[in-house]
Amino acid sequence: MKTYVANRFIWYKGEIVNVNDAKINILAPTAQFGLNVFEGIPCYWNDEEKQLYAFRLNDHYDRLIRSAKLIQINCPYTKEDFKKSLVDVIRANEYDENLSVRQTLFVDGFGSWGSEEPVDMFVSPIPKGKISSEYNKKGLNCCVTSWRRISDITLSPRIKCGANYINSRVGQREALRNGYDTCIFLNEIGKVSEGPGSCLFMVVNGTLVTPMLTDSVLESITRDTIIKIAKTIGIPVEERTIDRTELYTCEEAFLCGSAMEVTPILSIDKYIIGSGEAGKITTKLHKAYLDAAKGKNEKFMNWVTPIY
Ligand SMILES: Cc1ncc(COP(=O)(O)O)c(C=O)c1O
Repeated sequence: MKTYVANRFIWYKGEIVNVNDAKINILAPTAQFGLNVFEGIPCYWNDEEKQLYAFRLNDHYDRLIRSAKLIQINCPYTKEDFKKSLVDVIRANEYDENLSVRQTLFVDGFGSWGSEEPVDMFVSPIPKGKISSEYNKKGLNCCVTSWRRISDITLSPRIKCGANYINSRVGQREALRNGYDTCIFLNEIGKVSEGPGSCLFMVVNGTLVTPMLTDSVLESITRDTIIKIAKTIGIPVEERTIDRTELYTCEEAFLCGSAMEVTPILSIDKYIIGSGEAGKITTKLHKAYLDAAKGKNEKFMNWVTPIY
């Protein structure tokens, strides 16, 4: 029997508790300044096997450790602790459906934005379908936001920290205010970077093209997955700097991320992309991505971790 979402169990500071009993100190740096680093880890239910698979767990934990190191907070937990807490809390909820698991290291106590500790952790499974609406759309009408993506000379987009999402927020809010589903950011030198919670790919002459990791993007695990899958199914891939105008004339485009999976872009700044529907390469990659994440592709079984 799965747990109702408003009453779910979460892992909090070493214990599994009802989400309503997990209390945070209002003066903690995480509450005041967004001083935390986190991952959103996708888990997929494989109905034939009656198994739930966590996708690319090690890669998510490697990024979490890099984020903590870059922002200089002292994490008291090991990778083994990360994994055990995730497995324990999902099992406690008996979830047998697709999830996004939020795993957050946060600075607690009475310090300030300069504090390195005390650091603690929560792990909260979020059943899919309960996340924000832009993630659940079949296709996206996007704008290029007038706000620029943060960069490595100000606050690196490589760091997956709560505070970085305020940059995502201003772009997303502008998009929604103007009637779009979401936005695409340019970086500080005016080249294409990424979406507010996702990476961007486009198709040009049958080649999959995405900005480089040095173009102000998060080191996205889905981006890496798509590149690897595309190469194994014979779709050529180029990582290169992209001009804004290239977005308007490409054959296909999509945003991707752990929450968004692979979501087609139907238009950008009202320029119709391709036929204005999900493109063939986009659809093929989405299916291949889901197969890999559900443990249905033998080539990529090293990417999945069974929970039960
Ligand atoms: C800004 C940004 N880019 C890209 C992504 C996609 O990253 P991932 O594929 O690791 O979920 C995310 C999602 O976390 C994001 O917030």
